[in-house]
Amino acid sequence: MKLAIAVFTMVLLFYGTSADLSYTDRECGTDLTKLWLDVVAVVDNSIGMTNEGLDTTAAHIASVFSAGTRIGTQSSEPRTTRVGLVTYNVNAQQNADLNKFQSVDDLFNGVFADLKTVSTSAQSYLSTGLAAAESLFEYENFGTSRSHYKKVVIVYASTYVGEGEMDPLPVAIRLKTSGVNIITMAYVQNGDGFMLKQLAEIASPRFNFSSTDNNGNTVGQVQSALLETNCFCPSDWIQYRQNYTDYNSYRYGVCLQTVSLAANWRAAKMACANRWTNSYLVNEYNQQKHDYVLNVVQNSSGFFQPYSYHNGLNMVGGVWKWDQPSGWPQPALKNWYNWDPGYPITSSSLTAVLNQQNNEEVATGWQNIDYYKTAVNYVCETSSCDTDNYCSSAGRNGE
Ligand SMILES: *[C@@H]1O[C@H](CO)[C@@H](O)[C@H](O)[C@H]1NC(C)=O
Ligand SMILES: *[C@@H]1O[C@H](CO)[C@@H](O)[C@H](O)[C@H]1NC(C)=O
Ligand SMILES: *[C@@H]1O[C@H](CO)[C@@H](O)[C@H](O)[C@H]1NC(C)=O
Repeated sequence: MKLAIAVFTMVLLFYGTSADLSYTDRECGTDLTKLWLDVVAVVDNSIGMTNEGLDTTAAHIASVFSAGTRIGTQSSEPRTTRVGLVTYNVNAQQNADLNKFQSVDDLFNGVFADLKTVSTSAQSYLSTGLAAAESLFEYENFGTSRSHYKKVVIVYASTYVGEGEMDPLPVAIRLKTSGVNIITMAYVQNGDGFMLKQLAEIASPRFNFSSTDNNGNTVGQVQSALLETNCFCPSDWIQYRQNYTDYNSYRYGVCLQTVSLAANWRAAKMACANRWTNSYLVNEYNQQKHDYVLNVVQNSSGFFQPYSYHNGLNMVGGVWKWDQPSGWPQPALKNWYNWDPGYPITSSSLTAVLNQQNNEEVATGWQNIDYYKTAVNYVCETSSCDTDNYCSSAGRNGE
């Protein structure tokens, strides 16, 4: 299985670097060595966790960050990850704030030392652990030079107690509403269905895991959740998902922005290029992307029926090509076409393309137009912020 994946990846790489440009939408970065996050591990150390469970948890945390992730902030490279540690039973204790671990060795030493022996308490209130994580973010992330780094809590729990004042759900909801993702890892000895159900509510969608439901790879599950968290769009940009109405559907490493101030194609192209580093007029490689763009347009203020908006298609040297950041090769149109009947019209002046809605039905088709004349709204596209693409707080990519 691993070998098959490796061969597949090599084929993809080869394909990507050949003259035939890849004709797919960008995927989120997956380079753990370039992860840039602020993380707090929140670990249950009540008796139920057992010394063995605690030791396993230390090893798990250490393994999640052992894939070359830069721990701490002592690097000229901005793509670094800070990891804090909180333990909880009746009360929570802050073992390491976000600035304590400055290397992966620090992290190893810290978590193994702090997760050596369970407390004497049989009680365990996740609400206290989450509240401690919340205050760490409050003091050490929000309002600091790292406030634009995505925030994650990883909960390791052996039990779930949640009633009245000790209900962890309100804190979890508060964290998630303020943009913090929550990963839960249930330490289950004998299939505690109640706990799993409760932790699923605490966790961000699809980020609820269990030590027994692992296929041997809970480390990989947590790493994937961290990579996914690290892949996001700048404010005012909308991330391209597999399914527009399903927020939890697969997310591409692509961000979209509608512009509701009409411009001709040439001006729209320049305006898109100036919106962000490496931004351009939207590509519509396939029906799924086209439909998604139309959904975004339908939900944007300043766009009215019949819809009419530029995409990135233009004639270059006699070939229809998709717009790209300046200096990048433009992929030639292939595979999927959305021309309206009678289009494209052969003409040396109709060298740009817009999407036009032709009847009551909400659907749009391509029509070629004059590069300098027809002024309509348009849609811009750029790469997501992720491990391959750092976004600074000033809001520009790759600097
Ligand atoms: C995670 O939550 C989903 C939805 O609530 C549930 O179907 C799934 O079994 C949970 N997974 C684990 C490991 O608890
Ligand atoms: C449509 O736009 C509204 C307002 O900007 C936003 O709250 C909502 O999430 C959008 N719908 C979808 C499915 O993205
Ligand atoms: C998209 O998501 C919605 C809401 O979850 C669902 O009803 C619909 O079937 C999904 N569409 C596709 C094509 O999967």
